[in-house]
Amino acid sequence: MQLLQEIRRNINKQEKHKYLLSVAVAAPTFLVDTSYDVARMNEYVDYVNLMSYDYHFYTKSTPFTGINAPLYASPNQIGYFATLNINYSAYYWHFNGMEKNKIIIGLPTYGHSYTLMNNQNTVIGAPAIGYGRLGILGFVDYKQMCTFVTENKIKPFFDMDSKSPYAVKYSEWVSYDDTVSLTFKTEFIKNNDFGGAMIFSLNMDDHVGVCKKDLPKGTPKRFPLTKN
Ligand SMILES: *[C@@H]1O[C@H](CO)[C@@H](O)[C@H](O)[C@H]1NC(C)=O
Repeated sequence: MQLLQEIRRNINKQEKHKYLLSVAVAAPTFLVDTSYDVARMNEYVDYVNLMSYDYHFYTKSTPFTGINAPLYASPNQIGYFATLNINYSAYYWHFNGMEKNKIIIGLPTYGHSYTLMNNQNTVIGAPAIGYGRLGILGFVDYKQMCTFVTENKIKPFFDMDSKSPYAVKYSEWVSYDDTVSLTFKTEFIKNNDFGGAMIFSLNMDDHVGVCKKDLPKGTPKRFPLTKN
């Protein structure tokens, strides 16, 4: 806090340029509670970039599938699990004292892969035994995702609670984002008057154009997720 205060005091003294002060911040409520004085941060920063992703990914202590960046909770999630979504985090930051127009919502262009324990159980929350084969430590970029879906002729599922797709082939299970899910998420930002969107990250979007055959007509060939 001291640091932010000093930086703010200093940039306000600059006459030639108007500088912005922004901070990338965590989304989970327990981190917000233990790490930030949100109301005071609000006085010093122009905006916070909310890292509203990685809500679910494979770890030994969470060995089940889940959505990387759910927009909303699903009705069967209760207690702590019901807080693991973009909507909850964005409002949590706001209720703790950050002005809405300073809250920039992070949107991922990557997904998380899992290896299912049982190929027949493919639901969200199904037991998993590790990262999937796709990606690095389970981080899958959008190019890899498109290739995976097209080459295997997969018809991805779309979960209407979280407004997010996931794709399954044998024991490979991947949660990711596409143009449809990101449209829901940007509409949410606009309809709820938050400050804007932050993309994580440009290089994990399709900067080559390999996804174009799967995308609706008129979608930009390069950076389809970011530009759409
Ligand atoms: C979004 O979050 C707010 C604040 O926590 C809550 O009141 C609202 O019910 C949530 N919306 C949905 C659709 O879950």
